[in-house]
Amino acid sequence: MAIAIQYDPLSPQMLADPYPLYAQLREKQPIFWHEKMQSWVVTHYRDCREVLRNNELFARDRRRVGQAVPEFQQSVQTLDPPTQKPLRGLFVNTLRNQDTEAIGQRARQHVTRILERNQGKASFDWMREVAAPVSLRITADLMGVVEPELAPYVGVSEALAYRMDAGLDASVITPGDAARKKFNALVDSWFDTQDYPGALRKIRDEADRAKVPEHYVRNTTAVTFNASFGTLYATAGNVALTLLQHPEVLGKLQDGSLVAPGVHELIRFDGPAQGTSRFAMTQTVIQGQVIEAGQTVLTLTAAANRDPAQFETPDAIVLDRRPNQHLGFGWGPHACLGQLFGEIAVSALVRGLVDASRPLRLAGEPVRRRTATVRSLSYLPVTFE
Ligand code: HEM
Repeated sequence: MAIAIQYDPLSPQMLADPYPLYAQLREKQPIFWHEKMQSWVVTHYRDCREVLRNNELFARDRRRVGQAVPEFQQSVQTLDPPTQKPLRGLFVNTLRNQDTEAIGQRARQHVTRILERNQGKASFDWMREVAAPVSLRITADLMGVVEPELAPYVGVSEALAYRMDAGLDASVITPGDAARKKFNALVDSWFDTQDYPGALRKIRDEADRAKVPEHYVRNTTAVTFNASFGTLYATAGNVALTLLQHPEVLGKLQDGSLVAPGVHELIRFDGPAQGTSRFAMTQTVIQGQVIEAGQTVLTLTAAANRDPAQFETPDAIVLDRRPNQHLGFGWGPHACLGQLFGEIAVSALVRGLVDASRPLRLAGEPVRRRTATVRSLSYLPVTFE
């Protein structure tokens, strides 16, 4: 009998570079049971996309498979259509109906200012000096709330990112739950004490009119803010490292028409989201394997994004790859609600790197954060030439 390939998402080897193991899994174990995570793991593009698309068969809302979801967790992320639809529409439409051009301009100016401020330094940590403040500024801007103080907020966000891996490491639960309390207090302060124009004000007014339950709106505000900062921060690091390791790609991005498709390709190549879970509603079969009703299916979307059955030369960065229907922003009714702002923020960073008066270089060994669900760096030393 063939020996099963060991998949330990938190092993140093996987944190450093998961893609060789993803390739082995795609080839030898398109679907397998992971005892620790109590999940079926699927690795092929076609299967991942189908699980994410087919919400009738693969639920996100645990209540559809008989589990409880406490009120404080009920949000756009945990509800399924049809209940989720008006809530999701409210957030998507209000966020997008803003002056997105102006949001993009402010993001670009902020990146330029930060890079200029760091020009004189011998070296600096891209994650701390660029990824964190840029991600927080654009998130607060698009949500229309006062920007929280950076350092404490980053601490809370990190603990929440670690908390996502509770199925792999139970030690992250207590600090994650403490961070959740602090974060909820911040969100409550926006609802209880602040009153100013901006997207959140409009979302709340519209929710009142449309009678969307208040706790859905409050929880979705929290989820959106946290998802925005967390993924932007991780993407800012992954994309910068990819470009520093592939200066020829950075050079090609001087052709501004490649930035928009290039952002998608960089996210396909090494995006932050490694996988996400759904629950089988009835007994079903994937790749000849029977999945029982109620079982968890983890779609390893980062493995799917390098699937040669979907992407020609999947391990190459092809800035104008077309089509590029990657799963880096998810797929189906729970696909990224803030994709447009992800594109805006990452474009601002890429343009900042391209337009910098002196080229940026690596100034030491980057350090990966020990998180599996969201792939991120914790330290990226860089210097201007
Ligand atoms: C480059 C940056 C980003 C990436 C790569 C990214 C990626 C993703 C992915 C893969 C999902 C689907 C997760 C799943 O199916 O379980 C998702 C969902 C989500 N994202 Fe993003 N995201 C980014 C930026 C943002 C921003 C800026 C916002 C804020 C506006 C945001 C808000 C959300 C929300 C609220 C969800 C949950 C949607 C739902 O369940 O219906 N994301 N994101």
